[in-house]
Amino acid sequence: MILTVTPNPSLDRTYELPELVRGTVLRATADRVDPGGKGVNVSRAVAAAGHRTVAVAPMGGPEGALLARLLGEHGIEAAGVPVTGSTRINITLVEPDSTLTKINAAGPELSAAEAEDVLEAVRTRAAAADWIACCGSLPRGLPPQWYAELVARSHRAGTRIALDTSGPALTAALREGPDVIKPNSQELAEAVGRPLATVGDALEAAEELRARGARSVLASLGADGQLLVEASGAYFATARVETVRSNVGAGDASLAGFLTAGGQGPEALASAVAHGAAAVQLAGSLMPTPADLDRSAVVVSADVPLDRPLTEPAP
Ligand SMILES: Nc1ncnc2c1ncn2[C@@H]1O[C@H](COP(=O)(O)OP(=O)(O)OP(=O)(O)O)[C@@H](O)[C@H]1O
Ligand SMILES: [Mg+2]
Repeated sequence: MILTVTPNPSLDRTYELPELVRGTVLRATADRVDPGGKGVNVSRAVAAAGHRTVAVAPMGGPEGALLARLLGEHGIEAAGVPVTGSTRINITLVEPDSTLTKINAAGPELSAAEAEDVLEAVRTRAAAADWIACCGSLPRGLPPQWYAELVARSHRAGTRIALDTSGPALTAALREGPDVIKPNSQELAEAVGRPLATVGDALEAAEELRARGARSVLASLGADGQLLVEASGAYFATARVETVRSNVGAGDASLAGFLTAGGQGPEALASAVAHGAAAVQLAGSLMPTPADLDRSAVVVSADVPLDRPLTEPAP
């Protein structure tokens, strides 16, 4: 079972519009609502892959109740922590040429007691989990050390923990030794405070984050593939992609693929890349099912191409 933690989940409402015109009343040609937030995405990908998953998240108001119901419809066990504020609604406007305009709400501020309730909800379920995956930014009210505390408590419960976040929340958690972190190239560059131009730069940055406490680093490099740096060594993987339809949630699908394949070693890396490649070939934030995965399109090597330039260098 993979337990996910999403401190700031959302209801993602998508409206399709003929055209986005400011200052007018627009009529949607279609609309839908999906459960959202990075940890929730990981749960969606784990469930789509046919594994058991529990999603811990603060949930408040009618929006929180709807989120819990939608999770259930996706085959995800919702472990909602009741909070006073209402779960946020994020809005995506889609035009016919696939241009996306997004409006993200801040989400409710959590009280100190609510923040503790979320930690407690994880603690009581930790022993039943193979992995805990905590993902996304922290809502207002949670201090930057909150993930560090979550890592420490998960380890006390004897459960491995993967962390996908950025900025001070990531930096503060490193010293508690998260078993896996999954930065993308931007997040990796920010964490080490220097730009990344090549795969070798990314490897050096990942090594630095290991020296600062992370046990292993699964760095996703967008179109350039993924790099895994762990105690057993460093591995690099790419997957052939025919057409990129949407990269939304590709990183979350990758993390799910990595954890459901054991969370270490080159085979787990291959699974991560296969999930990322499958996710980008699906519309929106749709998560791949086993039928969407093509392991034969994946190449994994212990020979990291250090001099290869990144197609999207991180500033
Ligand atoms: N343009 C692309 N072409 C091919 N594969 C891609 C592309 N973008 C992403 N991928 C695949 O998906 C994986 C994860 O993508 P990325 O590094 O962009 O994650 P991310 O920025 O964390 O995404 P998110 O947080 O939105 O889920 C990549 O390592 C790669 O395997
Ligand atoms: Mg990401």
